[in-house]
Amino acid sequence: MIRSRHAVIGLGLTLVSLFPFSIALADGPTAERQGQLEHLLVQDCGSCHGLRLTGGLGPALTRSAIAGKPRDILIATVTHGRPDTAMPGWSALLSEQDIVWLVDRLIEGKSTP
Ligand code: HEC
Repeated sequence: MIRSRHAVIGLGLTLVSLFPFSIALADGPTAERQGQLEHLLVQDCGSCHGLRLTGGLGPALTRSAIAGKPRDILIATVTHGRPDTAMPGWSALLSEQDIVWLVDRLIEGKSTP
């Protein structure tokens, strides 16, 4: 009985010690990284999706254009690309956190200059 109590307390402590890590994730990229990602959005993504992301070779990525599209699918598209289309995967260049931040910018419509 006492032993299993200790196990429960031990588990609780483990969860507490993991907590700062989830806070770090929720913060997203550093300010410096955010600047780089904004640059990438215009220069790299913009080369296909248009400088104002209103479309080009790739479809528009404005807030209204992607409204209603599931966040998870947008994240998967940026991570892995879309086979048989020009959309490349970005997992080699961008971390998961970077990609989530970019997609959230698109969803919020804050990416369009
Ligand atoms: C070489 C051209 C190219 C580049 C560079 C590119 N994309 Fe794409 N992207 C496409 C094409 C083409 C599609 C449409 C794929 C399809 O037909 O499903 C697409 C689709 C998407 C979609 C899905 C849109 C929707 O309506 O479902 C997202 C999100 C997206 N791209 C984000 C990005 C981001 C973010 C970047 C930069 C990190 C990027 N793309 C860079 C060509 C590109």
